[in-house]
Formats: sequence, C-alpha cells, structure tokens
Amino acid sequence: MSRIAYVAGQYLPHRQAAVHIEDRGFQFADGVYEVISVVGGRLVDAERHLKRLKRSLGELRIPAPLGDAALGIVLHEVIRRNGVDTGIVYLQVTRGAAPREHAFPKAAKPTLVVTSRRSRPPDPRLGDDGIAVITIPDIRWQRCDIKSVALIANVLGKQQAREKGAYEAWQVDQVGQVTEGTSTNAWIVTCDGAVVTRPADFGILRGITRTVLLDVIAEQGLKFEERPFTMDEAYTAREAFITSATQFVTPVVRLDGRPVGNGAPGLIATALRRDFHDHAEIA
Ligand code: PDD
Repeated sequence: MSRIAYVAGQYLPHRQAAVHIEDRGFQFADGVYEVISVVGGRLVDAERHLKRLKRSLGELRIPAPLGDAALGIVLHEVIRRNGVDTGIVYLQVTRGAAPREHAFPKAAKPTLVVTSRRSRPPDPRLGDDGIAVITIPDIRWQRCDIKSVALIANVLGKQQAREKGAYEAWQVDQVGQVTEGTSTNAWIVTCDGAVVTRPADFGILRGITRTVLLDVIAEQGLKFEERPFTMDEAYTAREAFITSATQFVTPVVRLDGRPVGNGAPGLIATALRRDFHDHAEIA
C-alpha cells in the first residue's frame, strides 16, 4: 500500500506529494510542526497538540490553515488512509510559497502537510534497559517554546549522540543548567526522591508528555520541583529520564558515560512509564 500524504488540500501518494520550491518552510524554516502519537488508530492528546500548534502559529503570525474541526478530520483521514494502528502523525504548517524575501509576503497562503506512518510501539528494551545520554552546549535560539521546524541545532546534537553510542543529547545553557534533549524533555529524581524538571519558559518546549506527566506525578503524590538543574546534580541523581510523544517516559541509565544511580532504570521512571497511558487522552 503506498503511503498517502495530505498536501495543501489534497490526499496524494507520497511520490506525487510535493510543496513549491519557494515554500518558506524550505527556504527559511518559516514554519511549525507537531508530532502526535497514534495508538489503536487513535490520536493521543490531540487537543493539547492542536492547542500548542495554534500557539506556535500565533507566535510566528502564521494564519491557521484550517479550523480545528477540519484539521481533526484531516488527521484522522490520513491515519485511516495509511492504515496506521500504532505510529505517529506528523503535521507541518509553513507561511506558504512566495518569491524569496525575508519579510513576510503580502499574499501567501499557509502550506499544510500531514503524513502518518506506522511504527512499532516504543522498543520495550528502551524502557527495560534504559538509554545513554550525552551533554552538549545549547546553541539554539531563545524561543525554543515555539515548535519551529528550524531544527538544525537539534539535528546536529542528536547526530553527536548517535556517534557516541548514546540515544539522546541533553543541551546545557550558558550557566551550566540543562535545558532539554534534542527531541525530548529532561528530568531527574534527586537522592531525596524529588522529581525535577525545568520550568517551561522560552528555553524549552512545553512537551505535551511533560504536561500529562505532571498530572500523573501530582496524582501519585510524588515530590515535584519545577526548577532548572545542573549536570553535577544530574550526575549524582538517583534517577533520570526523558519524555516525548514518541518515547513516552524512557529511563536514562548513563549520563556522559557515568551510571545514573545504580545504572539500571529507576523505580519512579519505571512506574511513570507504566502509568502514563492511563492519563493520556485518546481521541
Ligand atoms: N519532539 N523538546 C523538544 C526539543 C522536542 O522536539 C520534543 C518533541 C519534546 C517533547 O514534546 P512532546 O512531549 O510534546 O512530544 C521536547 C518530537 C517528538 C519530534 O520532534 O519528533
């Protein structure tokens, strides 16, 4: 079955699906995106993702290409046409196509692209064995709260992680505090059992998984501190983990080659991974 994409109003096989060579997403990374997990053919936390999409669009002053209801229909239709049961939906909105000029074009229509693909459920080994993380300087711009497609710093960081045999790279800001991973939010559990993650200001993406997990943490009555942490604190933490729509909660067992805690997935990370799905909204 050939994969089907939604591109600027049409459902097309991937080989026929294309955007204009002067699309501003291509020329300026002038666009935003969302990745939504699909479980049992249904979207996980779609409402929250679409709300964040609207915010990202608003911050960049890109008009919404479709209303919420129509966009929801397109997302479900792309999932259906691709026969996706477990996987993801990717959606991207750019400012549209126009002759290359940095300032906003007067008359561009936003481009909407939606794709979906099957994937295996997150590899259980990642949860059972945990992952290795390296650290890199955070060289990104100062509006990481916007889910922009300008991901080159993240791409370089993830590649560095891969080349060092690690799964993720945690980015560290100029005062030595961890911001987030290249495609995940970063968390530690301190020696006295407090779960810690950085406040969602302009320096990180307000992850949807992060938001849902805050509810789980509150419900389980875990001690929680929303504050920045340093790598020294992370090296001596009892546990560490990452979150994202595609990885859910995944324990970190090595940081820069040193074991985290006893070098095995921590109890809290493992419990949060297990309980996460009870709190996600499936639509
Ligand atoms: N990444 N931080 C960054 C920089 C991200 O790119 C992501 C998501 C997250 C986690 O956000 P959420 O829980 O909403 O997925 C944090 C997606 C999955 C990606 O780019 O593929």
